[in-house]
Amino acid sequence: MDYVIEMLNITKEFPGIKANDDVTLQVEKGEIHALLGENGAGKSTLMSVLFGLYHPEKGIIKVRGEEVDIINPNVANKCGIGMVHQHFKLVHNFTVTENIILGMEPTKSFRRIDIDSAAEKVKEISERYGLSVDPHSKIEDITVGMQQRVEILKMLYRNAEILIFDEPTAVLTPQEIKELMIIMKGLVKEGKSIILITHKLKEIKMVADRCSVLRRGRYIGTVDVESTTEEQMAEMMVGREVSFEVEKGPSEPQDVILRIENLNVKNSRGLPAVKNLSLEVRPGEILCVAGIDGNGQTELIQAITGLTKVESGSIFFEGTDVVKDSIRERTLKGIGHIPEDRHKHGLVLDFSLEENMALQSYFQEPLAKKGLIQPEAVREHSDILIEQFDIRSGQGSETSARSMSGGNQQKAIIAREVERSPKLLIAAQPTRGLDVGAIEYIHKRLVAERDNGKAVLLMSLEMEEVLNVSDRIAIIYEGEIVGVVDADKTDENELGLMMAGSKKGTVN
Ligand SMILES: Nc1ncnc2c1ncn2[C@@H]1O[C@H](COP(=O)(O)OP(=O)(O)O)[C@@H](O)[C@H]1O
Ligand SMILES: [Mg+2]
Repeated sequence: MDYVIEMLNITKEFPGIKANDDVTLQVEKGEIHALLGENGAGKSTLMSVLFGLYHPEKGIIKVRGEEVDIINPNVANKCGIGMVHQHFKLVHNFTVTENIILGMEPTKSFRRIDIDSAAEKVKEISERYGLSVDPHSKIEDITVGMQQRVEILKMLYRNAEILIFDEPTAVLTPQEIKELMIIMKGLVKEGKSIILITHKLKEIKMVADRCSVLRRGRYIGTVDVESTTEEQMAEMMVGREVSFEVEKGPSEPQDVILRIENLNVKNSRGLPAVKNLSLEVRPGEILCVAGIDGNGQTELIQAITGLTKVESGSIFFEGTDVVKDSIRERTLKGIGHIPEDRHKHGLVLDFSLEENMALQSYFQEPLAKKGLIQPEAVREHSDILIEQFDIRSGQGSETSARSMSGGNQQKAIIAREVERSPKLLIAAQPTRGLDVGAIEYIHKRLVAERDNGKAVLLMSLEMEEVLNVSDRIAIIYEGEIVGVVDADKTDENELGLMMAGSKKGTVN
């Protein structure tokens, strides 16, 4: 077999963890090869090894059959390997062309004539691969999807033959994802080979020829995508059977615990985001606020949790209006929050895992006594949660939150919030960016809270999640609730129409 890339028995360690443990990856010329694995499985590490960013402790790399020592990204470039990182590395006030030639011609860079001929070449490549990028645009003026194409152009400009994409769709809209898939297919038609990192099985089914699976740093196997089901790939990835259906019995809702009345909230630009909104949530049910992004759901959740101030209206929690309460007061009253932006509102990234676990309770017994923090208690509290919620990290309680994978960061927040057993648990997009194993786990926890007699208020943009997890669905459109339906009496079509603004029961 003709492999363009062979990574053989690669081992790469970080303090306390083997991120890659004897991993082998063989990529054929002209294929789209998916690299699948849960958050933290070691995908980015393996590709960083291939791109010369990390040096492995063990293993060899062959490019077109020849062993090479890829000591840095320049060597990778010379071997024809290019990489689009999860976070783009573009200079925002430079043009597309300037970004593309950056670092290529150190001595006479940016002379007019160089730029003009470079722009011409960029235009040519862009047209050839259907990228539609204007070489003269400034990066700050173009969309994230376009910026990604600039990264692709950057690889092609350097004549890369093997293109690595690290979770390229995470930042894209559904339309942009479709376009990227078409671009990728065009690239392999022209003889390029692609390694596509993702944990989204649907995307693999859409474009990939073969798929290699990593789990906890180990190589599990490689399959032909056409003849393998999504369920089979999920099982390889997670190590057990994964159910895409959420198992739950009927809900047993009790008396209203959260009652929102005529709520008005403005967005960060001072425009009305939530308009005269009223809503009720009961213990023993999962109520989901569903809608297309940007219809006021974020502001609604922030108003309930205290992150945003309210213009007018009331938020009754157990009968008393909490609108004037601080975040801390609401927390102590029994409102738990899994925030939409886990980096901004969920974790302190420079803190250790155990400090993050104690964020909501460090001032209370047993974590503090007479106002003094008890380090052993903080450690024990964290160790127990890590065990219970299977939070994986390099150094346990001492791990810095920043170094943890997204899925495990999210598990840590959920552990902290669920452990306090709040009467109302608010979960805003709790599974965004997570892999199927973590998603299944989080859904189970939400249902368990419900069955435990707690109220769950879910905010989600994912149709599947909305339909599978909720008991009742409140559809939000332009800041208003346009209808509340029972999850088992509706379907994707009806929800889609309501999310686009048509009120339930009205035809127009
Ligand atoms: N620079 C680093 N320092 C310490 N640990 C790291 C570093 N990079 C990754 N890790 C750890 O290595 C493991 C694999 O990470 P990564 O390759 O990023 O996974 P994936 O891309 O599959 O989500 C994770 O446990 C992660 O926390
Ligand atoms: Mg990664």
